[in-house]
Amino acid sequence: DWNMGAFVDKEIARIRALVGDKGQVIGAVSGGVDSTVAAKLMQEAIGDRFHAVLVDNGVLRKDEAKQVKKTLTAGLGINLNVVDASELFLGRLQGVADPEKKRKIIGNTFIDCFQEKAHEIAEAAANTPRAGKIEWFLQGTLYPDVIESISFKGPSATIKTHHNVGGLPAKMGLKLIEPLRELFKDEVRELGTSLGIPEELVWRHPFPGPGIAVRIIGDVTAEKVRIVQEADQIFIEEIRAAGLYREISQAFAALMEGKAVGVVGDQRLHGHIIALRAVVTSDFMTADAFEFDKSFLRKVKNRIGNEVAGVARVLYEITSKPPATIEFE
Ligand code: XMP
Repeated sequence: DWNMGAFVDKEIARIRALVGDKGQVIGAVSGGVDSTVAAKLMQEAIGDRFHAVLVDNGVLRKDEAKQVKKTLTAGLGINLNVVDASELFLGRLQGVADPEKKRKIIGNTFIDCFQEKAHEIAEAAANTPRAGKIEWFLQGTLYPDVIESISFKGPSATIKTHHNVGGLPAKMGLKLIEPLRELFKDEVRELGTSLGIPEELVWRHPFPGPGIAVRIIGDVTAEKVRIVQEADQIFIEEIRAAGLYREISQAFAALMEGKAVGVVGDQRLHGHIIALRAVVTSDFMTADAFEFDKSFLRKVKNRIGNEVAGVARVLYEITSKPPATIEFE
């Protein structure tokens, strides 16, 4: 029987004891529930001696970096540093079509950006008399992640390595601090709500580290990213308006390779092909495609056709996992 009040008190005491009076902690946040709850717990325990870093990799959801900044800073009082690295990421991704290469580039670029920011923060911190040096790295690992990384050897095994951002803490000589490592997802959500994290964030669908880059089949360009972001925003907006957001485990728009012919007004348009995906799953290891009403899909298709320039076709993906994966790459 899990007692949340007791958990929070115990965890805050544990963090304070580990870190000490002057110790400092750094950690990456993504805007997802796990990293936000972990960050908020840190803020409660040690205030501004916790430094959160958000790297905007240019392949986040539309306006995501801005929204995360607002929620974490103004809303939750977390000491947040935003690194706008969109151009660096898109530059390094230019012309790269192979999914694993894309993941590697994004992972490595993330590490570069994070380390650079961490050094900057450490230097600034060294000049603050009340604080010591940064010795700790916060990670929002949950209990299932701990178990999975020990026992799971399925096809997604490599995918799960994102929980341990490329061995970054060890590489930087930092010790790991994992305040959520005994918790399940539903407990993290409950904890988040009790810490004052907005409902919308607490129930946010998962979003992959390599972001929209794995939802664009083939090479990534700023134009393709814009199309996916806009289509995705419309799809999610309509899902929320229909009251289906919580029923669906994960939903998003993706971009297929190549172009197709469509007709806009009396003009033939050689445009992009958007695929919509929405799944229901309990563990993300298997998943079923969500069955929308035809009228819902027609509405989303109309909006995307009218509002997103350059789209000629909208498809709805009905393959379950397996044989498909949830993401397209
Ligand atoms: P798949 O596509 O393997 O996705 O069925 C299962 C869950 O994992 C997420 N996913 C990723 N998360 N980095 C991440 O951080 C990745 O490279 C990655 N690939 C998939 C996916 O969004 C889904 O929730």
